[in-house]
Amino acid sequence: MERVLISGANGQLGKCLQRQAKHYNEFEFHFLTSSDWDVTDHESTRAVFDEIQPDIMINCAAYTNVDGAEDEREKAFSINADALLGIVNHCNHHETHLLHVSTDYVFDGKKSSSYSETDQCAPINVYGQSKRQGEQVIEQNAHHASIVRTSWLYSSFGNNFLTSMLSLGKQGVDLSIVNNQYGSPTNANDLAYFLLLLAGHSASGNHYYHFCNSGKTNWHDFAEAIFEVAGMVDQVNLAPTDHYPTKAERPVNSLLDCTKIKEHLKEEIPHWRESLANWYDRDKKDALI
Ligand SMILES: NC(=O)c1ccc[n+]([C@@H]2O[C@H](COP(=O)([O-])OP(=O)(O)OC[C@H]3O[C@@H](n4cnc5c(N)ncnc54)[C@H](OP(=O)(O)O)[C@@H]3O)[C@@H](O)[C@H]2O)c1
Repeated sequence: MERVLISGANGQLGKCLQRQAKHYNEFEFHFLTSSDWDVTDHESTRAVFDEIQPDIMINCAAYTNVDGAEDEREKAFSINADALLGIVNHCNHHETHLLHVSTDYVFDGKKSSSYSETDQCAPINVYGQSKRQGEQVIEQNAHHASIVRTSWLYSSFGNNFLTSMLSLGKQGVDLSIVNNQYGSPTNANDLAYFLLLLAGHSASGNHYYHFCNSGKTNWHDFAEAIFEVAGMVDQVNLAPTDHYPTKAERPVNSLLDCTKIKEHLKEEIPHWRESLANWYDRDKKDALI
């Protein structure tokens, strides 16, 4: 049985992986939260690897506050980049396949079509820069790693666009949401499923993959779809806007070309509307309480 170590297990992706773990008898899972294992503490990293001796590690630990990173640059780089050097060294030592999750924010968003794995990276905010540096640490040092870039991740857990919209919807507020930033939302359950598939079908060496749900939308239309699926349309006055100032600049185009992962795993990726409906069928009770 292969031992799978998961860091950042209390984040939204970590929780989705925990939910799916029971379906994978071939894996012995070790879910570690930030209290169990601070990935920036190299001594703690050594102790975790020595104890668990993982065959596979899925790194869900990350600094994910995009606007906060503009003020907390050092912290963002420490978690998203520096910590990876220790992780990679121990993965190499234990012959562990590292599955690392990265982001569409490594791109500048100026391309008119979807981004492939080989497109040039040019992050436009500190969060994106820290995540790109983490990718480079892995690319330059790892023996066996899969870096999976994803976008617009949502679930019932924690603070994400979907949980924010549901919370605002419950308050019955007027909302203006940008309609000039494009991408595809990613149901974190789908990402968890594909990561576990990839864990069982890894190619040797280091590889980048892109994963988001299929189709294309903008934030306003995604919000509208959330309110429709949650039956909240009458509670919210939703309007499109082309201007919503944020501390960190956002890419205009976040769309990822997922051909490589689909062909490698021989698995289709559901459309974002279908996955949103699946989320509602599965999680509505938790999310709407
Ligand atoms: N959210 C998105 O829209 C999005 C988009 C593209 C890519 N991604 C990437 O997807 C991955 C998963 O994101 P997510 O949305 O699941 O993030 P999340 O919900 O913010 O979870 C991140 C987890 O990392 C933990 N963590 C933070 N610092 C740590 C440290 N020093 N040591 C150990 N654990 C630490 C956090 O611990 P606490 O529970 O203590 O806070 C949290 O549980 C990340 O790599 C992220 O960059 C996310």
